Amino acid sequence: MTDRLIARRDPAAPTASWWRHAVIYQIYPRSFADSDGDGIGDLPGIRSRLPYLRDLGVDAVWLSPFYASPQADAGYDVADYRAVDPVFGTLDDARGLIADAHDLGLRVIVDLVPNHCSEEHEWFRRAVAEGPGSPFRDRFHFRPGRGEDGSLPPNDWPSIFGGPAWTRTTNPDGTPGEWYLHLFAPEQPDFNWDHPAVADEFRTILRFWLDLGVDGFRIDVAHGLVKEPGLPDLGAETEWHLLDVGVSPCFDRDGVHEIYRDWRRILDEYPGERVAVAEAWAPTLERVAAYVRPDELHQAFNFTYLGTAWNAAAQRETIDASLAAMRAVGAPATWTLSNHDVVRHTNRLMQAGEGDVAGRRPARVDQVAGLRRARAASLLLLALPGSAYLYQGEELGLPEVVDLPPEVRQDPAFHRDTGQDGYRDGCRVPIPWQGDRAPYGFGPAGGPSWLPQPDDWAQLSVAAQEQVPGSTLSLYRAALAIRRSHPDLGAADNLRWADAGDDLLVFDRGRFRCTVNLGPEPVRIDRPGEMLIASGPVDADPDSVLLPGDTTVWWSR
Ligand code: NOJ
Ligand code: MG
Repeated sequence: MTDRLIARRDPAAPTASWWRHAVIYQIYPRSFADSDGDGIGDLPGIRSRLPYLRDLGVDAVWLSPFYASPQADAGYDVADYRAVDPVFGTLDDARGLIADAHDLGLRVIVDLVPNHCSEEHEWFRRAVAEGPGSPFRDRFHFRPGRGEDGSLPPNDWPSIFGGPAWTRTTNPDGTPGEWYLHLFAPEQPDFNWDHPAVADEFRTILRFWLDLGVDGFRIDVAHGLVKEPGLPDLGAETEWHLLDVGVSPCFDRDGVHEIYRDWRRILDEYPGERVAVAEAWAPTLERVAAYVRPDELHQAFNFTYLGTAWNAAAQRETIDASLAAMRAVGAPATWTLSNHDVVRHTNRLMQAGEGDVAGRRPARVDQVAGLRRARAASLLLLALPGSAYLYQGEELGLPEVVDLPPEVRQDPAFHRDTGQDGYRDGCRVPIPWQGDRAPYGFGPAGGPSWLPQPDDWAQLSVAAQEQVPGSTLSLYRAALAIRRSHPDLGAADNLRWADAGDDLLVFDRGRFRCTVNLGPEPVRIDRPGEMLIASGPVDADPDSVLLPGDTTVWWSR
C-alpha cells in the first residue's frame, strides 16, 4: 500500500488520456493553507502541502483563481489574467508550484474566467474613463438606459447574484451615462465575445499559462460567453438560476461551441494532453455533452449528478443518463459532489427536497448521520467510470458551516440577495491541518483566518485523522489507492447493474463490485466476495453480509 501511495508518476509512462479516469482535487486557494499569516491561503501555502495531496492519491489539482483581482467575488473577478494577486504570491510562486506538483506526479489545472473580468481590468477602466464612444466599450456590453432619461436598465435580465444584471456608469463630466451588463456582480462586467479582440486576448492567455506548464483549464461559466444579438428581454421569465436555464438569450447558446473548437486547436498544439473542463450549466445532459464533442473540450462538470437526491432510483437514473450522454460523444463522464459554490455534501444529501437542487441554502443536519451518508456517497462516486472531482476538505468529512455570522460573510450573493440563509461561505471555511484550536495549522499559530473556523474542528484536522483507521481521511486514501491499482477501475465504460432490492444499488465493473444501501434499514445480501473497503462498519460472515443503511462496500468477486 505504501509503495502505491508514494509512487511517482513515471515521466516515461504514456500520458494517453490520463484525464479520462483522473481524480482531480479542487483547491480553493484562499482557504487551503496560509504561509504568511495574513489569514488568506496562498500559493506558497499550497506548495508546502502538495506532498499531502500526493499521499492522498489524487492525479491532479484544480486551483480556483489566484490572479490579480480586487476579490469582489473571491478572485472570479480578474483584473489581470497574466499576474498573480499579491495576496496569493507571485508568478514565480506559480511556476514553483507547477514544478513541484509535476515532480510529485500531480498535474495542475487552473481556472480561466472568460465570461467577465473585473471592473479593475484595464480595458474596462478605459471603457468607463473614456466615456461613450470609447472603442473599449465595444469589448463589453454598454447600452443606453431605457425610459425618458435613460434611468431604466437596457433590458430585464437579472444578475445571478440578485438585482439587475446592469449597472449605470457616470460620464467623465459627472452626468449619468450608459449601462453595462454583468450577469454576476457589478464588479464583474461581461465581455462581448463578438469582438475579435476578446477572442484574441483569450488565445494569448491560454498560451501564456500553457507555456508556463499548466496541464489544463477549468472554464468558468463556459455556457455564458455568447449572448443573443440585441440582448432581448426575458419577458415572463424574469427569474433564473444557473441550473434552470432552458432556451436563454445568454446561456448555452450554440455560438459558444465555435470558441471551444478554437481553444481545442490551441490545447492540441501542446504536448502531454492538456485539457479543459467546462463549467456549463446546460438544461440537459445532452446539451452538456455538446461541450465535450471530440473537437471541443475534454470534460464538463456533471451538475445533474451533483443535484441528484440520495435515493437508489434517482441515482441509478442519473448515472445511466450521464454515461449514455457522454458515451454518445466519446467523452468520459465526470462525477462531483462538492465544490466551492454548493453546500458540502455532508449536509446537502441530508437536505433532500429542501431548497433548490444545487443546494445553495444550507440547513442544519445531524452531523453524524450526514457524514455517514457523505462517506457512502463518496465511495459510490469513486467507483463510477470516468473522472472524479473532489473538493478540498471533503476527504476530512468537513461539514457545511451553517452558523457564520452575517458580518463575516463575503459571498457577494449573500449581500446582494436575501441577505440570509448562508449561501457559499459555509463551504469555504479554511482547512484544519493540525492542533487544538483555530486556525488549526491553516496559518501560523494564533493567526487569523479570513472566515472563522468552528471551535470543534480539532478532531477533523488532517493530523487528527491521519493515522486513524476508519477516519474519513483514511477512507479516501484507501479508496483512491484501490481505484488506482484495480485493473477494472480504469477508464473503461464497463458498469453493469445487478438486480437489487429497492434501496440498494449494486453494479459490477469486471471483477469489481460496488454495493450501496441508500435506505434507512440494514439489508442482508449474499456475500459477493472479498471485501475491499467499506464506508462504515459492516457485519459480514462467510456467506452473507448485513449492509447497514447509508453504507457502500467495494468487493472483489
Ligand atoms: C462560477 C464560479 O464557480 C463561482 O464561484 C463564481 O462566482 C461564478 N462562476 C462567477 O465567476
Ligand atoms: Mg496568506
